[in-house]
Formats: sequence, C-alpha cells, structure tokens
Amino acid sequence: MSESVVGKGIDRLDAILKVTGKAEYPAETGVANIAHAAVVTSTITRGRIAALDTRAAERAPGVLAVVSHLNAPKLPGIDKRASPVDPALQLFQNDKVVYNEQPVALVVADSLERARHAASLVVPRYESASFTVDMNAEAPRAYAPPNSRFPLDSQRGDVRSGLSAAKVRIAQSYTTPIEHHNPMEPHAAIVIWQGTDHATVYVTTQGIFFVRQRFASLFGIPKENVRVISHYIGGGFGCKGVPWVYAPLAGLAAKVAGRGVKLVITRQQMFSMVGYRSRTVQKVALGADSSGKLTAISHDVLSATSRVDEFTEPAALQTRMLYACPNTSTSHRLVRLDIPTPTFTRAPGEAVGTFALESAMDELAYALQMDPIALRLRNYAETDPDKNLPWSSKSLRECYRRGAEKFGWPARRPPPRSMRDGRWLVGLGMATATYPANQSDASAIARVRADGTALVQAGSQDIGTGTYTIMTQIAADALALPIEKVRFELGDTTFPETPNSGGSRTASSVGSAVKMAALAVRKKLAEVAVADSKSPLHGLEVEGLDVADGALYAKSNRARRDSFGDIVARSGAAEIAVQVDNKEKEDRKRYSTHSFGAQFVEVKVDESLGTVRVSRFVGAFAAGKILNAKTAQSQYQGGIVWGIGLALHESTHRDERLGRIVTRDLADYHVPVHADIPHIDVVMVDETDPYVNEIGSKGIGEIGITGVGAAIANAVYHATGRRIRDLPITPDKLL
Ligand code: MOS
Repeated sequence: MSESVVGKGIDRLDAILKVTGKAEYPAETGVANIAHAAVVTSTITRGRIAALDTRAAERAPGVLAVVSHLNAPKLPGIDKRASPVDPALQLFQNDKVVYNEQPVALVVADSLERARHAASLVVPRYESASFTVDMNAEAPRAYAPPNSRFPLDSQRGDVRSGLSAAKVRIAQSYTTPIEHHNPMEPHAAIVIWQGTDHATVYVTTQGIFFVRQRFASLFGIPKENVRVISHYIGGGFGCKGVPWVYAPLAGLAAKVAGRGVKLVITRQQMFSMVGYRSRTVQKVALGADSSGKLTAISHDVLSATSRVDEFTEPAALQTRMLYACPNTSTSHRLVRLDIPTPTFTRAPGEAVGTFALESAMDELAYALQMDPIALRLRNYAETDPDKNLPWSSKSLRECYRRGAEKFGWPARRPPPRSMRDGRWLVGLGMATATYPANQSDASAIARVRADGTALVQAGSQDIGTGTYTIMTQIAADALALPIEKVRFELGDTTFPETPNSGGSRTASSVGSAVKMAALAVRKKLAEVAVADSKSPLHGLEVEGLDVADGALYAKSNRARRDSFGDIVARSGAAEIAVQVDNKEKEDRKRYSTHSFGAQFVEVKVDESLGTVRVSRFVGAFAAGKILNAKTAQSQYQGGIVWGIGLALHESTHRDERLGRIVTRDLADYHVPVHADIPHIDVVMVDETDPYVNEIGSKGIGEIGITGVGAAIANAVYHATGRRIRDLPITPDKLL
C-alpha cells in the first residue's frame, strides 16, 4: 500500500527548478524574433494629450513602432464590461488622461534597452485639468456604489438602543494607508499573433481564463482563439488577480509591430498601472454590558476608487460574523478621486478590517478591565450570526488556547507600561484572525498511461503557494500511486477550466476537482478491467475492487490483481482519461464556511526613538485539512510577515499637489526585511471538516495577514500606553 502523502511537509516539486533558474516565468519564455516594449506614462493627473511628438523616438536605433492614441487600432470590445472590477483600460483609444502615470504611448524596439531609450524621447504636450486626490476633501461626496459585488450594508437588531443600553462604549476612527503588493516578479506579458484573430499570450496572472476572456473580448475575437499560458508566477497577492492593461497593451503593440512583443512593466510602473489597496477610514463603535457581553457593534468603512471604475475595500465583512451580538450594523462607501483603480490585496477587507475591529475590541477590553481573550470568548459566535447558519467547522477556541499556551500569554501583566526589558518597553498583544473558506466550480482531467504513471491537468496557476506540489499529493493519494508516478500540469487554457487564484480558493476548488478526477479515472479503470476477458479481474463487480500500489485488486482475494499499466495497455489506447467538472459542494449551502486563528505578538519599543521591534510572534490557525505542512507553514508565515509590514512599515505616499505617487520603488516603499522579522511560530490546529468541500481544506493564503495589524497595535499600546489608530505605526507617531 503506498503511503498517504496528503498532509506531509514534502518539499515543493518545483523547488529545484526555481532555485536553479530552470523554471521559466512568462517573461522568460524563449520566443524567436521577439520585440520589446516600453511604456510612456503621463506626468499629469487629469486632462488630455494635446500633442505627442514621436519623431525622435521613431528615428532612434532599433525602433519598430511607436503606438499611441494617434495610431492604435480601435479595439472593438473596449466598452464591454465583463466584470464589476474592470481595470481602467488605458489602451490608447482616446486622448484622455485620468490618473498620473497612465500609459500614453508605447515604444516597440528590437531590444529592451533601445525600447526604453526611445520611450524617453517621446514628448507629450498636455492640457491639464483640475483634479483631486484628497480622500478627506471628497468624503462629503461619499456614495454607495450601485454595482457592488457584495452587499454594502448590513443591519441586525438596533445598534442605537444597543449602544445606549451599554455599560461601556468605544467609538473610534481607524485609518490605513494605500499599500502596494510588490510581488518580486513584475507584471509581464508576451503576445504573439497567429494571423489577425488568433493569439498566444504568455502572461503572469492569477487567472489565465480571466485574461483569455478579457483579451478576446477587447480584440473582438472568440475566446477559443486565445491561448493563455502561465507556468510560474513570482507572487500575485491580488495585484495579478484581474487582467490589467499589460497583456492587451502587448497585444496592441504586437499588432502594430507585426511581430511578437514582450512587455515587462517597471517596478515604478507597478505603483500606477496595476491595482493596490485603497486607503481606508473606518469608524467602529462597540457597546458592552459590565460582563463584557457585546450589546452593539457598528463598523462603517470609507475607501477610494478611481473616476473610471469601482473597487470597494470590503473591510467590514468580518464584523458581521466574528462575534455574537444582537445589534450590528455595517456599511461601505466610496469616494471618487483622480487616481488609478484599487484592487484585491491579500485578504481584501479582512487585512485592514480586522485592524479596526480587533483594535476596538482591545480598547473595550481595557475599558472593561478584562483579559482580551476572555472578552472574545465571552462573545464567541457558536453559529454564524450574519448568515444564521451553523459553521461547517470552527476551532477558534482551540486557536486561542493553543496560541496563548505557546506564546506564554499568562505571563502578561495587563497594565500598560508594566513590562520592561532594559531600555525597551515590552508589550504583548493579540487579535483574532479570520477568512472565508471559498470554493468555486473547477475542472480537472486525470490520465493514466500504459507505463502505469498518471498525468493530471487543470488550467489554474501556481502563484507561488505550492499548487503544483499539493495537487500532485492529492492525485497520488486518490490514485494510490507513489508520488513519483504522478505528474500534475497547470497554467494553460488548453487544460480544463478553473477559477482565478484569489480568495484563497485554489487548493479547495482545484484540489477537489483533481481528487474527483483521480477517483473517476480509477473507477473507469475498474470498469475496463472487469469487462476485459483477459483481466484477472474479469467478471467481478466494480464495487468489489480496491486499489493499492498502482493496481486494482479483488477485496475478496488480493491475489487477483491487475495493474493500471496493464489495464491501459490491453485497452489498445495510449491512455485512459476522465475529465471531471466539479461543482461547489452542495453541503456548503447549509453551512457557513470560515477559517479562524489567533495572533499573538510581543513588541519592544524604544521610548526615546519610538522604534518598534517585533520580538516574538505566534499564530495559531485552524483551516480544515492541511495538505502540505511545509507549504502551509510558509503561507501562514508569509501572511504574518506582510501583516508586520502593514502594521509597521508599508505606506504609499502621493504628492497631493501633483497627484503623483512619490514612493515608487522598494527604497521608498518599505517592506519588512529579514532584520524586521523574528522567528514566527505557527501552530496548526487539527480540524476535520466534512462539509466545506471534497478535500476538507479551507485555504490558507490569506488568513495569515488578518489580525496582525491589530495584534501589533494592541501590543504597542500595552508597551507604551499609546493607542495608535493610524497605520503604519512609524516612530514619529510614538514620540
Ligand atoms: Mo487574493 S487578494 O484574493 O488574490
């Protein structure tokens, strides 16, 4: 019997390829005679391009084409909206400028260096119009976006009477800045046209099928005419979740230049041409009786979008379900500014929403003189109070208990400024983590070949999380094959269709499809064997068979066995294959599906400098079945690292007079470095969930970042007695 590999912390199957540089990222794809593109971006924030002098650029060495609104082909699908999160597609269809550093022209040349040099020779002349990029100034014009993809408001009971009945009340405003994702790999695409209406697109994306559909609709061709390939991705985190302009821009350039074009946007352009997390202003009010029982919660969120599209940061969603409270209201509003459109950013909503809610809970705990964990347990939601459904599983109590134990929470002396380590003030803080356990319809095909090996394929994409590895593990177990005999392929729209890798859904959606396809091909092999007069299993019932070590055998007599390879070989076909189009599990309608966790942190604050060091971190999580203990730990730790960045470092600054972002690279935009990160302990709480999906896994790409901002702010308060409600907590705010 081959040993089960699901859950084992095996190394990534693509690890050697990646560290030796053999894993080919989209922009590295070897394509003969490829041309290179460089984008010219606007230096005004709003207005129009009055003139564009491209003569010097066109004369520059190696230049093949200069593309702009003056000569770009008209895109038949430019006005078709396929998604509520349609990125602002500035594809040279008119002379308008709607945000600073918007693409206004593109140069194609025979080398990257020549393209970039020629791009610097393009001279636009603009007519500037007045603009506003100031969220506070526009706040009076906040509105409820009519096409929101989630319900903007919620009401349960009566918050006003809940607050007036409260013994203790907290009402505060919390703010978070613009954040940029900054994956290591910049956004990139290679487009090669075959004739006028067929294209191959190598692109870094979290959604190959989404790119295919958008690309095809923009160019007015059937989606079947577009093949999108994305084998390796150097991080996504949400900023590669919707199809931004880079693939269609490369497509336009390739059409004009008459050859394949590669476009890699620069690190600086990643701060404007693709999405980011909006600044948020969040008002939270809590009321509780003297025992700590919540009598009211309200959470009102303001975020900003562009003039040309809408994206709402869903920061109050967790507030609807995290605590049992009879009186709850939440709202989301938007202001329009002359800025690029924001987008999904790791745990969109929860990452910054838990900062506000879980900071307020800490403030309430102090006001009640209650332990922060005790306050949360007092308001533990035994069922989902928002959907009024039982949880498919919930192990948050265990997360609090195991996390507190590992961290040594009982050693915390509650009063602020009561703990010291020499000149450092020491603070201990905690917060709850939560993220929805999503599943979408997904397809996969499992193929068993005459050599006894299996090849499993699903469109999908591995954004760096370990998808190749866990899918191979799932398929190996379902086929009872040693993992060496299973190969899993992804990243190609010629494979069965799968959802975007967003919302922590790839493992649960594609993993379920892979499992069902593997089981289906097993059944097909059994059917072929019992019907085959040459098989030792001939004439048996399919139900009477089981599988081990790459062979089917009779349960009643293990000596009667037939190997996968022999079954396929005798069939005369090269392989026996079954595709499964897996639907979201029916049980999910009767349950609320979420993962939960508890974050614990120790900080040391230098009182004279205001510097905050994170000295210890423990995150305890329960997220259903863990598919690979090693990649899971990396996902949790990666989320926590970004949470530390969100709490202490990250912030995008815009010059409000110019409307232009000034922190445009990793020198000015601070992400945590190794020296900022202590050892991070991850506690994985065992959890069995028979309802959430076919593999019982809840998805762990995003929960790790949730709660971290609040846990650190709460620890800083404990250390210093200073409550910082505006992220990031930089030294100036503590002096
Ligand atoms: Mo994730 S922000 O849903 O890609």
